Amino acid sequence: MGIKSIILAAGKGTRMKSEKSKVLHCIFDKTFLGYVLDAVNDTHMIEQSYVIVGHRAEDVENFLNDNYSNNTKAILQSPQLGTGHAVSMVYPELENYNGEVLILCGDTPLITSDTLSDFIFAHKNNKADITVMSAVLDNPFNYGRIVRNLDQTLKKIVEEKDATKEEKQIQEINAGIYCVNWGKVKQAFLELKTNNAQNEYYLTDIISWGVKNKLNVQAYTIKDNSEIIGINSKIQMAEASKILNRRNLEKLMKDGVTIVDPDTTWISADTKIGTDTTVFPSVYISGKNTIGSNCKIGPMAHIRGNVEIGNNVRIGNFVEVKNSTIKDNTNVSHLSYVGDSDLGSHVNIGAGTITANYNPVTKVKNRTIIGNYANTGSNSVLVAPIELEEGAFVAAGAVATKNVKAWALALGRAPMKIFENWVSNKNKEG
Ligand code: UD1
Ligand code: CA
Repeated sequence: MGIKSIILAAGKGTRMKSEKSKVLHCIFDKTFLGYVLDAVNDTHMIEQSYVIVGHRAEDVENFLNDNYSNNTKAILQSPQLGTGHAVSMVYPELENYNGEVLILCGDTPLITSDTLSDFIFAHKNNKADITVMSAVLDNPFNYGRIVRNLDQTLKKIVEEKDATKEEKQIQEINAGIYCVNWGKVKQAFLELKTNNAQNEYYLTDIISWGVKNKLNVQAYTIKDNSEIIGINSKIQMAEASKILNRRNLEKLMKDGVTIVDPDTTWISADTKIGTDTTVFPSVYISGKNTIGSNCKIGPMAHIRGNVEIGNNVRIGNFVEVKNSTIKDNTNVSHLSYVGDSDLGSHVNIGAGTITANYNPVTKVKNRTIIGNYANTGSNSVLVAPIELEEGAFVAAGAVATKNVKAWALALGRAPMKIFENWVSNKNKEG
């Protein structure tokens, strides 16, 4: 359908008390901006996004180039003179564009593509020129308030700092997400003024501008208020993370995953899990992963991303897995680290097995390959690059530095010596 989007991400985010750009903070190893861009892209209605950058602009630009270069462009706003000023930075890019533009902020990672799609459809169905997303909150403090006329048509948005006592009572707030017909609204950005409490160019003034210019201005009230949470502080970040996690867990449970204790389990939205898999308490799974059916994960396991696990796999307590594939019917039951590894099926990883994947001298990460039916004994170290072929056996306590052929035994420990009566003799010498 070819809509454009503008994502505001130039602000300083002072209240985060951080050296980093606010929008590059992460929940489950994914940046706030990444969540917003994914939601935008997953509507399949946006052909191009402009991200307004300012504070820590270079970092945000690098992030976009590394992850979203195909349809995303960074636009610099310096200095930052307000949300309306931010949007006006795209004016030269869109001078001859007359279609729809979705405008949103980079610090609202809980927004979903379903809501954005519904929002855009509502805008189109109403044949609106401007649609603003609103929400009705018990505590509307600090948000811009939606001011309506007696007949309920929109009048304006007023910011907390500019609001009268009566206006502050209004519970319907501006969620900060807009859909506009650019052809009809772009002129507004040339006419915005800074006569307000913050001396800023307010994007919110396009509402009264639209009303004044007899445009069709509508509000769309969101169903789930949690989606519009804008993160301004580390406290809000923790609250938002919890809501996001709960949403992920509920989706998994609806799809047939057993989660024993949702209060202590953390699973990223980008983790897919098959039916009848049980996740035990205190499991933390971040990044993108696929876990099959009938698996048992945890308690107290850590899956760090880029992990593909088949069916009937056991990942037990105090096991960490990263950037690895694990095929069906394999067990990694206790106290092990599996990183940069490819495990076949029916493998048994003994307690305390470590894949030593990183060479700190060369700074290179190497892979460990473990064939079907291979076994490692307790407390063995597999120094990558290394391959254990099918059915190979590494005995307990070995430091394996060579490949092990199919069905061979690798023994890597000094033979035990027994000194008869050693203790009693020592005592007699006493
Ligand atoms: C804004 C809205 C408010 C709404 C709220 C929703 C305005 C004037 N107010 O307030 O009505 O209820 O969002 O969360 O728009 N930014 C820039 N450049 C700037 C200023 C801001 O890119 O010059 C970006 C920020 O990085 C942020 C977003 O715009 O991502 C919103 O700015 P912020 O200062 O957080 O606005 P609020 O005060 O929350
Ligand atoms: Ca502000």
